[in-house]
Amino acid sequence: MKLIYSPASPYVRKVLVTLKELGLEDKVEFVKVTTSVVDQSDVLAAANPLTRIPTLVMDNGKPLYDSRVITQYLVSLVPSCGYYPASGEARWDVLRLEATAEGMMDSAVNARYERGLRPAEKQWDDWVDGQMKKVHGALKALDGEAASFGDGINAGIIAAACACGYLDFRYGDMGWRNTYPALAAWYAMFSERKSMQETQPPA
Ligand code: BEZ
Repeated sequence: MKLIYSPASPYVRKVLVTLKELGLEDKVEFVKVTTSVVDQSDVLAAANPLTRIPTLVMDNGKPLYDSRVITQYLVSLVPSCGYYPASGEARWDVLRLEATAEGMMDSAVNARYERGLRPAEKQWDDWVDGQMKKVHGALKALDGEAASFGDGINAGIIAAACACGYLDFRYGDMGWRNTYPALAAWYAMFSERKSMQETQPPA
């Protein structure tokens, strides 16, 4: 299979961490692209009608996207990992956690695009504030759950870690650890994992 990716993306990081944790890295050809909404990669557009990273092209030539679909596919290759529990409350807990973390990424990335890509005179402060309010909502929810993560790992926990990592990458002066100490304590431990260390976003 082939992964079309860009290393700054937290969605890509989710997939990379999952690949490493599941020992699937050797089965993947990595194709790095540079892409943005206003300058879209032709390689990516040829594989994915939405021109979004990450895109995983399976060995049968068919693409998978978005990151949640890709991680479900990877987990299906190693069903014993239990990263997505098959049924019951445990399944919905993991799916909700993953959705919370991805929603946090969405809002943080949206605000980053507004500030980083949009001309200064067109930026909308209230919209950015609203996105960051959603980030704090997600942080509060993750902080409330963090004590239950222990030293475990599943698809939701990986997503939560990559969402926190994105805040450190793009919002380094935000100081989220001061307000969300349980999440900070868990993240300090989880981020030491080899898979997290090896997928740090570019400096
Ligand atoms: C970023 O550079 O912040 C970024 C890159 C790709 C996807 C999302 C965010």
